Amino acid sequence: MSDPFAHPPRDLIDLARYPLDDPRGRAELMERCRRELAAESCVMLPGFVTGQAVRRMISEAMAILPRASRRDHDLTPYGPPRTDLPADDPRTITSRSAMHVVAGDDLAESAAVQRLYRWDGLTRFIAEVVEASELYRVLDPIFNCNLSIIGEGDGHHWHFDSNDFVVTLLLQQAEAGGDFEFAPYIRSEEDENYTAVAEVLRGGRDGVKTVRVEPGTLVLFCGKRSVHRVSPVEGKRKRVIALYSYDKRPDKMFSDESAMRVFNRRRTTPAAAD
Ligand SMILES: [Fe+2]
Repeated sequence: MSDPFAHPPRDLIDLARYPLDDPRGRAELMERCRRELAAESCVMLPGFVTGQAVRRMISEAMAILPRASRRDHDLTPYGPPRTDLPADDPRTITSRSAMHVVAGDDLAESAAVQRLYRWDGLTRFIAEVVEASELYRVLDPIFNCNLSIIGEGDGHHWHFDSNDFVVTLLLQQAEAGGDFEFAPYIRSEEDENYTAVAEVLRGGRDGVKTVRVEPGTLVLFCGKRSVHRVSPVEGKRKRVIALYSYDKRPDKMFSDESAMRVFNRRRTTPAAAD
């Protein structure tokens, strides 16, 4: 089998800082990432992508912004609000999720964000960090690598993720706001810890981390047990991230319904149930 770490995109990754092409440097980085993930549910790799590459990525992203679709909903961390529960239950407390999204198949394969996503070394490195014996880029061309753009007054509501982990790359930060806020491991498999989640939704900050992510930072986050949000953006400059999706199966496709819900679009390729 060929070495997945061969031929790294040298024009995109700062390999001096993150030597993914060197077995020893990579092993050290992997250990650090595993430790941070276990302790904090999140790993940040600032400057993973070089400043020049970030500028290229953002100009490519801005060029396709007119194709973005809009999402705007008031949701609880668990979905739509329940009406059969008391007002202090977090399943009744909503926050606003409003943003624009660009589907993966609107991004050219030659686009820099796509080239980084499609490098096998990145997939393999992430698999090693999350200790997955099998890991593949999502096959679905709409969901595999997409963009989320949060403009003035918009944000991403407090929520838990349904997938095991997500990888994001921050391309542009807002002038103010647009912070990533998360409560590491606030719930477990056994305990939803609704009281603590409700406290966070009401503005409590005990156990909540707030991070202002800088452009070029690769973030690996396990959001299944850590409630998180992007705080409302202030100012004209939009917060832009690329989202990279992975799955344990090589043929992961999402349903047409999911494509409609997330991207407000139908697909031209065959879909499967998710
Ligand atoms: Fe999330």
